[in-house]
Amino acid sequence: MKGEDVIGVILSGHDGRRGFIHHMAVSKECRRQGIASNLLDHALAALEAEGINKAALLVFNYNEAGNAFWESRGFSARDDLTYRNKVLTEMVRIDT
Ligand SMILES: CC(C)(COP(=O)(O)OP(=O)(O)OC[C@H]1O[C@@H](n2cnc3c(N)ncnc32)[C@H](O)[C@@H]1OP(=O)(O)O)[C@@H](O)C(=O)NCCC(=O)NCCS
Repeated sequence: MKGEDVIGVILSGHDGRRGFIHHMAVSKECRRQGIASNLLDHALAALEAEGINKAALLVFNYNEAGNAFWESRGFSARDDLTYRNKVLTEMVRIDT
């Protein structure tokens, strides 16, 4: 928060075994100030406190800033998984 404005968000959770970071974003004008790192530290600490010892996330290959961020925070890329999904109802595509 900056005054009344939300400048960064993270949404994470777990299934009792693995943690997952669902969303992470910082407003454009506030980036490169350590805000995402700070949010991530809090989320990971909360997961750890619940006994979770591994966290994962998905990021588009073309998201250079996103991948640079996760790489800098020690999230390594895996090449032994295939991402699968299925359209249940027609929807507007969201790419972020
Ligand atoms: C990815 C994102 C959340 C990073 O937020 P941020 O607050 O700027 O990140 P931080 O300031 O904590 O950055 C920590 C480190 O990550 C790396 N990093 C972050 N943004 C980077 C960029 N654009 N290019 C290269 N490295 C980057 C750097 O190593 C940085 O450390 P440094 O600033 O000391 O060099 C932000 O760019 C964003 O909201 N992007 C759009 C949404 C998105 O892509 N979310 C993630 C998808 S899963």
